Amino acid sequence: MAEDLTISEGTKAEQYLSILSQIKGLIDGEPDLTANLANIAAALKEQFGWFWVGFYLVRKDELVLGPFQGPVACTRIRLGRGVCGTSWQEKKVLIVPDVEKFPGHIACSSLSKSEIVVPIIRDNEVVGVLDVDANEYDQFDETDSQNLRAIVDLIHF
Ligand code: SME
Repeated sequence: MAEDLTISEGTKAEQYLSILSQIKGLIDGEPDLTANLANIAAALKEQFGWFWVGFYLVRKDELVLGPFQGPVACTRIRLGRGVCGTSWQEKKVLIVPDVEKFPGHIACSSLSKSEIVVPIIRDNEVVGVLDVDANEYDQFDETDSQNLRAIVDLIHF
């Protein structure tokens, strides 16, 4: 397994291409979920410099904070609450260009300005979400959605 990350420059798509293959290398052959989520969060934070990158995992009727990189965050989110709980409920990627305009957004930090949440779906059920926050407005688009979905598809739950 590769333990050094090579930070790529270039377009966002090029950066994703580079990080996707490195994430494959990081988690290939490693069965431990916590280890893999931790390394994915770290790799994405290092490559893109986002404000917060991390996972919430479905535990009974709540999302519970999992491995992440960034400032401390709220621990539990109920179904349908905030961007994460809405992504879970609707089973779809949510791109929020301005978090203050998202009804019910859960502000873990006032520095977070835009957000993308990608549900992780196995056997048609959401098992967790990948949440990414940026400290600038309008930082996420379809390129992020496609590539982050490809990344969460690599994870063995
Ligand atoms: N903003 C999220 C909560 C999680 S933090 O951003 C890390 C939400 O509204 O669900």
